[in-house]
Amino acid sequence: MATVVLGVTGCIGVYKACEVLRELQRHGVDVRVVMTEHAMRFVSVLTFEALSHHPVFVDQFALGGESDIQHVSLADEADLLLVAPATANILGKFAHGIADDALSTLFTATTTPVVVAPAMNVNMFRHPAVVANVETLRARGVRFVEPGTGYLACGWLGQGRLAEVGDIVAAALAALARRRDLQGDTVLVTAGPTVEDIDPVRFVSNRSSGRMGYRLAEAARDRGARVVLVSGPATVPEPSGVETIRVRSAQEMADAVAARVPEATIVAMAAAVSDYRPGTVAPRKIKKSEGGLTLELVRTPDILRSLGAAKGGRFLVGFAAETDDVRGNARKKLAEKGLDLIVANDVSRDGSGFAAETNAATLLDAAGGEVEVPRTSKRELAERIWDRVAELRGRSPGGTQPRSHEGTEAAE
Ligand SMILES: Cc1cc2nc3c(=O)[nH]c(=O)nc-3n(C[C@H](O)[C@H](O)[C@H](O)COP(=O)(O)O)c2cc1C
Repeated sequence: MATVVLGVTGCIGVYKACEVLRELQRHGVDVRVVMTEHAMRFVSVLTFEALSHHPVFVDQFALGGESDIQHVSLADEADLLLVAPATANILGKFAHGIADDALSTLFTATTTPVVVAPAMNVNMFRHPAVVANVETLRARGVRFVEPGTGYLACGWLGQGRLAEVGDIVAAALAALARRRDLQGDTVLVTAGPTVEDIDPVRFVSNRSSGRMGYRLAEAARDRGARVVLVSGPATVPEPSGVETIRVRSAQEMADAVAARVPEATIVAMAAAVSDYRPGTVAPRKIKKSEGGLTLELVRTPDILRSLGAAKGGRFLVGFAAETDDVRGNARKKLAEKGLDLIVANDVSRDGSGFAAETNAATLLDAAGGEVEVPRTSKRELAERIWDRVAELRGRSPGGTQPRSHEGTEAAE
């Protein structure tokens, strides 16, 4: 039986958390409730204890049964942390790592997926601090169930009303379903740029930050996979719980991939591998002279093509960063390299591509299917890619289909 820890905060809509709890129970979920002190000003602990058949965790300094430290034991036990309703205050604490009560401490202690359903006055929801906190949390993989728009309890008209109970429960169940869908898989992810030396001080490289590959690795880890990450010199921090192999050049990346690919069931090549390298590397710094300098560039190994040629039963995901005819070029690459799925993105668009924390993409598969993912955080895009991989491998997470408001799917 799955365990959901339901975090409840001091909102006017807190009574709806009782319905969320009951609805989750109807789906066979064991619900454990954590309340903030302020939530207790709206609804009593007794209500949630009676409904959940468990003690409610409010005081982080009160030890649980067998003297366990509850913010850690509950954090470990949870298959999902669902916070509904979530105040502006708790979003701020979550975004900034403040751990000064039972719920915020549990949040910082858990590695389980988190779904948050905010509810607040429209001006609070639009406040730049709240907007920034939501963005920060989204980028870290927290899922949001958007508040509804309408007349709010405070008398204002606008966005801020807690989402419908059915939508909150659906989001929680979808997050639970995708939680372990890569269990048993070994996922090999490549990320970052490669660097091709010209001489001991100069090199040829590209603008890749490594973000997309790192987010893919983190999302695969969170869905239960063993993850091997082969990374060029990226500019983002190394993910925890993932085996990271550092490389520099395309040749080093090709060697590392060849060494580790036999154990992989899925390969996602998100690295921006240099297509060319200088034909010779000068052993000493090239001195400048009056005239120009011509570099002769030669091709680097085509890692993706080699993987496609010796694919076995492996599922192969490639990336196409394009500036022109994005779909056409991606379809061509998909076919030529024997890929199962290609993630095509237009790197010339604002908020897409290398340095951005967000990205938009089209997921094209070998059977002709196409799924549009509008601009979103790279972490969410990573989740959508793994959702698609699960669907194409026949392991649909809870039957998740591309949602109508988020994308369109062509013939499959
Ligand atoms: C009647 C009333 C209703 C409130 N409703 C909300 C709300 O819907 N959303 C919100 O973010 N804060 C709301 N607040 C303010 C929070 O209760 C307050 O920021 C509190 O510090 C939140 O604490 P917590 O996040 O620890 O539960 C409300 C306050 C009152 C008095």
